[in-house]
Amino acid sequence: MTCSILVGGAWGDEGKGKCITYLCMKDNPNIIARAGVGPNAGHSVEYNGEKYGLRLVPSGFFNKNARLLIGAGVLVNKDVFFNELDYLDKYDLKSRTYVDKRCSMIIDEHLERDRGSDHLFKKIGSTGTGCGPANSDRVLRKAKMAQDIPDLEKFTTDVPLDVNEAIDNGEDVFIEGSQGFGLSLYYGTYPYVTSKDTTASTFAADVGVGPTKIDEVIAVFKSYITRVGEGPFATEIDEEKAGEMGIEEFGTVTGRKRRVGLFDMDLARESCMINGATQIALTCVDRLYPACERTQDYSSLSGEIKQFVSEIEDATNVPVTIISTGPDLNDTIDLREELL
Ligand code: GTP
Ligand code: IMP
Ligand code: MG
Repeated sequence: MTCSILVGGAWGDEGKGKCITYLCMKDNPNIIARAGVGPNAGHSVEYNGEKYGLRLVPSGFFNKNARLLIGAGVLVNKDVFFNELDYLDKYDLKSRTYVDKRCSMIIDEHLERDRGSDHLFKKIGSTGTGCGPANSDRVLRKAKMAQDIPDLEKFTTDVPLDVNEAIDNGEDVFIEGSQGFGLSLYYGTYPYVTSKDTTASTFAADVGVGPTKIDEVIAVFKSYITRVGEGPFATEIDEEKAGEMGIEEFGTVTGRKRRVGLFDMDLARESCMINGATQIALTCVDRLYPACERTQDYSSLSGEIKQFVSEIEDATNVPVTIISTGPDLNDTIDLREELL
């Protein structure tokens, strides 16, 4: 039995979608539970040439054996939820996806309050998906919950009960966090952050699992850093340099051009400490070092890449167990066996 949590190590968009796809296909968990803020996330998943962009339902959906749950801490937008169930119809989501009955609902008014706010939308650079206003209504105890919405009746469950029963029965549970450490309301670059903490402890609470039940925390870092929206970014580089290095990026949810920077060892160290990371997944190594594209074999990596990996391990004191060398789940070096 293993209960794992996957977290973003930096400002989101670390390639969590790819890592979740890989780990959920490889390890075959019985439950895949989504934690994190809500539909402000944008996860890209790719498998056998099919590519999907998701905002709310668990990114591990390719695994048809798993039940897909959305924890009580996650904000639900009913339209996004039903659109994604339709979008992924061939993966039978309608028969195996459930939201916790206590999830707060995002309504049109939250979208208007987010997009219409100079503070949130312009100064902070929010995604405009209504998450900040919806979380604030939850704190003010005004938000509606999933159990108040008749259309959702068939899709609601008690997520903590399902997850804890699975753990007690010796089943495997995979908890997907969204966003990233630098966006945490407490530990990130406040006020340029999202509307909630985004570290492993909060993700456990989102799905109702106590800290004593968590076995692994996998922190995902990209080989360089990106950030969308405003706020401090110690290792940022200018657009021209990012272009020369071939690492420009655009957002999945907003289409905004992402700010780009170099890997930040200090951020990685603090992020691993506060998340209690036990493993690191390092993505997009092929974008920094194109020669390693799609390789699955650690020994074929150049000395320069191996050196980069050891520097990260030395700075964080956490082993790099997954190295991603391309967007497809097969483009992965899996070093976990070597830890055993
Ligand atoms: P999260 O927000 O962390 O879930 O990240 P994401 O998966 O949504 O990442 P994002 O939307 O930023 O998309 C990253 C893009 O890079 C997607 O098209 C992924 O398929 C792709 N990707 C992920 N890992 C790798 C990798 O190791 N190499 C390359 N070349 N692309 C990758
Ligand atoms: P909000 O969460 O929409 O309020 O946005 C607040 C800040 O968090 C903005 O800078 C967003 O760009 C950023 N943000 C929120 N979710 C994500 C994510 O999933 N990836 C990257 N940035 C995010
Ligand atoms: Mg993303």
